[in-house]
Amino acid sequence: MAEDLAARRMSLHGRDLVSIRDLSREEIVSVLDSARKMVPAAEGARPATDLQGKIVAMAFFEPSTRTRLSFESAVHRLGGSCLTIADAGATSIRKGESLYDTIRMLSSYADAIVLRHPHEGAARLAARASDRPVINAGDGSGQHPTQTLLDLATIRERFGTLAGLRVVLLGDLKYGRTVHSLAYALAEFGSEIILSSPDTLRLPEEHREELKHQGAKLREEPDLYKAVREADVLYVTRIQKERFPDESEYRAVVGSYRIDGSTLRGAKPQLIVMHPLPRAGEIAPEVDATPHAAYFRQAFLAVPVRMALLNAVLGSARKGG
Ligand code: CP
Repeated sequence: MAEDLAARRMSLHGRDLVSIRDLSREEIVSVLDSARKMVPAAEGARPATDLQGKIVAMAFFEPSTRTRLSFESAVHRLGGSCLTIADAGATSIRKGESLYDTIRMLSSYADAIVLRHPHEGAARLAARASDRPVINAGDGSGQHPTQTLLDLATIRERFGTLAGLRVVLLGDLKYGRTVHSLAYALAEFGSEIILSSPDTLRLPEEHREELKHQGAKLREEPDLYKAVREADVLYVTRIQKERFPDESEYRAVVGSYRIDGSTLRGAKPQLIVMHPLPRAGEIAPEVDATPHAAYFRQAFLAVPVRMALLNAVLGSARKGG
């Protein structure tokens, strides 16, 4: 009986995923364990039918290559089907329909909704509008929890653990949603976080405070060369040009950091360089051929991780079912 209750509490069945903090450590580990088993199916080597008869809506109101296509690939690899909005301009939002109404209606066409939106908080609103599970695929500068799951899968695959590592978060820590999600998960698993960013793109105070409250091992190292020498994981981010209210602020920081052969000269041999991609000049192509480059493997792991997540979330007809 107690075991049943514990299993139900651990179950992601019918649940929304808006923030990485919606998942416990155990739930994250469970998704990563399932994702590892999904790799052959994600590569197309083993057919799977877990989502046969299920429809997943991809509601993307902001550009995406990896997130949307890896979610679609995950659904197809599991035998399900997708409904896709890839261009907000081709929807009735153009006629003034609200996001709330769009999502409410979509939840009667699909078994789950994957949402990307330029506004922070949009996924939380969508979760209220929908009686089907909503998965946040990035909301403005807010959160990108499924990216964090695949980031963790990449780190664990390389190091066999998520604890005790030294992870440098480099770049746009102000607007970058991937680092906002990842920092919480790293703190939860007991890895050290080193923040390295241009001064105007430092991690916002509210995140620092919450991370400290969470007991995170957190410090700053503005000197990129020093940060790289200490790192087990170097997580590079793009400057989020589209989020700057004033383009002159963007121009003041663009090109202020770049990882290339010379930056990596003092790095530990086991260092991995990660990036959620797309990159826009922060990592020189010469790094691709080094054993440090992990970003294309990271992009592939999006498929088995999203397969595992969809499998866990779908399966009951309605939210909370
Ligand atoms: N990593 C990521 O979110 O990439 P896309 O913007 O291409 O989906």
